[in-house]
Amino acid sequence: KKVKLKVPATIANLVCGFDILGMAIHEPFDVMELKLLETSEIIIRHTDDFGLPEETSKNVAGKVLLKIQEELNLKNGFEVIIHKKIKPGSGLGSSAASAAGAAFGANWLLGNILSKEEMIYFAMFGEELASGVKHADNITPCIFGGITLIKSSNPIDIIPLNAPDLFVTAIHPQVEVKTSDARQILKKNILLKDAIEQWGNIAGLVAGIQNNDFGLIGRSLKDVIVEPVRSILIPKFDEIKEKSLGLGALGGGISGSGPSVFMLSENEKISYEIAEMMKSVYRKINIESFAYVSKVNPKGIEII
Ligand code: HSE
Repeated sequence: KKVKLKVPATIANLVCGFDILGMAIHEPFDVMELKLLETSEIIIRHTDDFGLPEETSKNVAGKVLLKIQEELNLKNGFEVIIHKKIKPGSGLGSSAASAAGAAFGANWLLGNILSKEEMIYFAMFGEELASGVKHADNITPCIFGGITLIKSSNPIDIIPLNAPDLFVTAIHPQVEVKTSDARQILKKNILLKDAIEQWGNIAGLVAGIQNNDFGLIGRSLKDVIVEPVRSILIPKFDEIKEKSLGLGALGGGISGSGPSVFMLSENEKISYEIAEMMKSVYRKINIESFAYVSKVNPKGIEII
């Protein structure tokens, strides 16, 4: 028994919703092929040259499958071939794609025995291996599609939101920002006045997403807690944001823990103009970058 999956990139946080909001997009995406084995081995292979570990316990997909095998007392093993297109360390949910794809694929091969929440539970072990923290804000939109709210990750309580018809421009500058480092630099305590501002923005963003109120989405894409600290790690962050808004973006910010930056816009032409501007900003300072123009992806993982 075999299955082939298209597993999309995701944008975590959506600016103000640190660890609780995430969105699936169409581009880039990984392709994963999973096969159920009669023996108990778990074999992982990559067809790219990103140099990701293939040893089962050190591989994100491998870790998820080991956990599924252990907790479900499975006699079967799995063979996984990963065609990775979402660059590791981009902030576009590369590790989440491997983790969510492994959980989704295993579930399908086993006859759909897991709920979406259970798939998230298993996939979180992969995220823990990749970044040291079981954050679910990339995995969840990958599995549910669209935009998702993690009301709680322990116990797992997911609120699938709407998938507004918006364009997404993302730029990945070739600088290294590790999620673990980008979490470590955050302040452990926040001021009540900042929390109040952030609550207002998160609530506004969720209401805007649910009501397709693009103006409200734009006004709510503000982060007074995480972005001021993390943006220092991203060259030209302020310039990119300011110029994107000047070109007509609704708003945007750091994708996940960075270094990618994303912008939302209502119109395709604007989304391509933003991509060109972003590339030229990095070209000027000799930083190689990859730009993606995409849309919110309502489906998430698909069987192909
Ligand atoms: N919510 C996580 C963070 C996402 O911002 O650290 C990491 O991709």
